[in-house]
Amino acid sequence: MTDDVTIREATPQDAEQLIAHVHRVAAEPDIDLVLMPGEFKVTVEEERKFLADHAAADNSSVFVAEAAGRLVGVVVCTGGTRRALRHAATLGITVAKDWRGRGVGSRLVARAVEWARGTGVVTRIELTVFVRNEAARRVYEKLGFVVEGRRRNAVCRDGVYFDDFVMALTGKGPEPPLGAATHRSRSIRRTSG
Ligand SMILES: CC(C)(COP(=O)(O)OP(=O)(O)OC[C@H]1O[C@@H](n2cnc3c(N)ncnc32)[C@H](O)[C@@H]1OP(=O)(O)O)[C@@H](O)C(=O)NCCC(=O)NCCS
Repeated sequence: MTDDVTIREATPQDAEQLIAHVHRVAAEPDIDLVLMPGEFKVTVEEERKFLADHAAADNSSVFVAEAAGRLVGVVVCTGGTRRALRHAATLGITVAKDWRGRGVGSRLVARAVEWARGTGVVTRIELTVFVRNEAARRVYEKLGFVVEGRRRNAVCRDGVYFDDFVMALTGKGPEPPLGAATHRSRSIRRTSG
C-alpha cells in the first residue's frame, strides 16, 4: 500500500520541509495535538540543530516518510537527558493529511521501535494520545504499546478540554520486548554465578 513511500533517518537538510509539514498539520482544525496553529515558531537553524542533536544522541532519533521527494510524515523519539531517564524516549508522530490511512504511520512507529531495540539504551518508548484519537491508538496498540493511565482534562484547546492516555512500550511488552538482551544477560549472570 505504501511501497512508494520510503522511511529513512532525518538529516539536518530536512529542516525546511519538516517545519512546513508541522505548520500544515498544526493548522488543521480539530487536530488531536497539543500544538495550536501558529504556535510552532522554530527557525530553520534551530530545527537543523534539533535534527543534528537527535542524530548524534544514542537515545534519540527522527525518521521521516518520503514520497517522490516530498516529506509526508515524521516520527520523533527524544530520550531523557537525566541518567535515570536515559532509557525512556518520548515519541511524537504526524502524517500529512492526504497520506493518512495508508500505513505510513504504522511504518514510522515500527521503524522507531526497531531503532529503539538496536540502541542498547532505550528500553521504554512513551507517549500521550488523545482518548478520541482512535487511529493513533490503533497504530500504537498494533505495535505492542499499552495504555498505562488516563489523564483527565490533560489538554485544553480553545477552551475545550480533552482526556488523554499515557501509552508505552517497554521491557514488559510483547516479544521481543525492548531491552530483552539486557534482561537475558542479567539472568544468565545470575544462574551461572
Ligand atoms: C495518527 C497518525 C500518525 C496515524 O498515521 P496513519 O498513516 O494514518 O496510520 P496507518 O494508516 O498506518 O494506520 C491507521 C490505523 O488506524 C485505523 N483507523 C483509522 N481511523 C480509525 C478510527 N476512526 N477508529 C479506529 N481505527 C481507525 C486504520 O484502520 C489503521 O489500522 P489498520 O492498519 O489496522 O487498518 C495520523 O493519522 C496523523 O498524523 N494524525 C494527526 C496527528 C496525530 O494525531 N498524531 C498522533 C498524536 S498521538
